[in-house]
Amino acid sequence: MADQTIALVTGGAQGIGLACAEALAEDGYKVMLADVKDSVHAAAKGIGGRGFVCDVADAGALMAVFDTIEAEEGPVAALVNNAGIARPGDFLSYSLEDFDAVIGLNLRSVFAATQRAANGMIKAGIKGAIVNMSSINAVVAIPAIPAYCASKGGVQQLTKASALALAPHGIRVNAVGPGSIDTEMMAGVNASPEALARVMSRTPIGRVGTAREIGDVVAFLCSSKSSYVTGETIYVDGGRLGLNYTV
Ligand SMILES: NC(=O)c1ccc[n+]([C@@H]2O[C@H](COP(=O)([O-])OP(=O)(O)OC[C@H]3O[C@@H](n4cnc5c(N)ncnc54)[C@H](O)[C@@H]3O)[C@@H](O)[C@H]2O)c1
Repeated sequence: MADQTIALVTGGAQGIGLACAEALAEDGYKVMLADVKDSVHAAAKGIGGRGFVCDVADAGALMAVFDTIEAEEGPVAALVNNAGIARPGDFLSYSLEDFDAVIGLNLRSVFAATQRAANGMIKAGIKGAIVNMSSINAVVAIPAIPAYCASKGGVQQLTKASALALAPHGIRVNAVGPGSIDTEMMAGVNASPEALARVMSRTPIGRVGTAREIGDVVAFLCSSKSSYVTGETIYVDGGRLGLNYTV
């Protein structure tokens, strides 16, 4: 069993998930990473953790990862539901397959992982923390990513419902809603001066955010420094959601 507190980050092989894992490792967690990419092993090694190749949208595979972690490392005390996909497409021809895939990963797997982690925490007597990766698209929409917007809006309400259900057990559930962050998901925008200019026209701080700027807020929400915060979504967006007109 572990002599270090265990955290699990989904989609942790790169980007925001890996930055969350790095921040949690610095706070003393032994971090488990679950990702579809084989590079999850190297990423985990870099932070003294352990990698699992897993399609998080496959509930059976996800449960098997939890079972292995509990048996071989110890109970999960902090869960970061970060894995997510966008699948952009034309609204009028957007396929139900793409819609189901986005909802299956971005929303359904968040519920499955939260339920499993909470049961493990309750069994182990741990007053743990769960953080869901939302987006400003929980609040403002882009027509080319309808399923993504719906999934992140769902995550906001699921975060509140989970927080209410788990508060009696001392488990806190919050979310972080990034604005435009420099990761592979944003690579298309970053590579296009026109697209980047559009993003900057909506970003009062005047730059794209770093993955670590999200990871640090996630680490805060997993720490005792946020012990009275639950059911909340913190938007880390360089001021985007506060903006009305631009000139
Ligand atoms: N980058 C941004 O600007 C931004 C903004 C708002 C929200 N987000 C959210 O942050 C989270 C991380 O995004 P990112 O920007 O780091 O993207 P990314 O594409 O760099 O990383 C996503 C990670 O999730 C993994 N993944 C994808 N499908 C998976 C599956 N089925 N099972 C397990 N792992 C899977 C990928 O392999 C990858 O390692 C997502 O939930 C995304 O919606 C990102």
